[in-house]
Amino acid sequence: MADEARDLTFVVAIDGPAAAGKGTIARALAEKFGLGHLDTGLLYRAVGKKALAQGRGVLDEGVAELVAQELMPEDLAVDGLRTVMVTRASSKVAAMPGVRKALVDFQRAFAERDGGAVLDGRDIGTVICPNAPVKLFVTADAETRAERRHAELAASGSTITIETVLADLRARDERDSERADAPMLHAEDAHLLDTSELDIDAAVIEASKIVEQALSRRRG
Ligand code: CDP
Repeated sequence: MADEARDLTFVVAIDGPAAAGKGTIARALAEKFGLGHLDTGLLYRAVGKKALAQGRGVLDEGVAELVAQELMPEDLAVDGLRTVMVTRASSKVAAMPGVRKALVDFQRAFAERDGGAVLDGRDIGTVICPNAPVKLFVTADAETRAERRHAELAASGSTITIETVLADLRARDERDSERADAPMLHAEDAHLLDTSELDIDAAVIEASKIVEQALSRRRG
């Protein structure tokens, strides 16, 4: 589709490192402004989970590509997408160009839906929706992110230590930032939102102000 046509839909693109608060902010903005929400990390998690199962615990690039090509919306609604093993697998399959390519159309189709959408991930403002009228890069220091993710995992029954959570986050951030294809980048035109010192309500208020400004510019 031509880039001009893509400009017609209202898209909020949210990127940033693991556990920075992107998902919570994206859900809150979608609810507040009546937009659809796609957590694009779920796509990579679903591919990682299926590819691990098909490879009996080993990730094969060819298998992961096929899984990505055949991924169905219902694959995003299964249990077990946030386990430690699946999270590690998600960032490994996300570095495979064939996997990323297979997932582009689904994400763009979601972004172009009537009524607008919020998408959160790593390459939304740079690759999937470079013309999005609102771009946020949500971040926080690694220790804060590890504490938040550790609390989430503990609440779901995991006994993982905070040290392991921090090491996993750092490994994932490094893989996500350094891969050749669609690395995680702070797009030049993205607003930086550092949530290290903000609770979720304050972060959502900041993000909402940015969306309101963009909406009033559009209303012109
Ligand atoms: O929730 P969290 O921030 O920890 O991760 P996520 O957003 O669910 O993403 C899981 C993994 O998928 C990331 O570590 C990335 O490797 C990959 N991903 C990506 O490469 N591109 C996206 N647009 C979204 C996720």
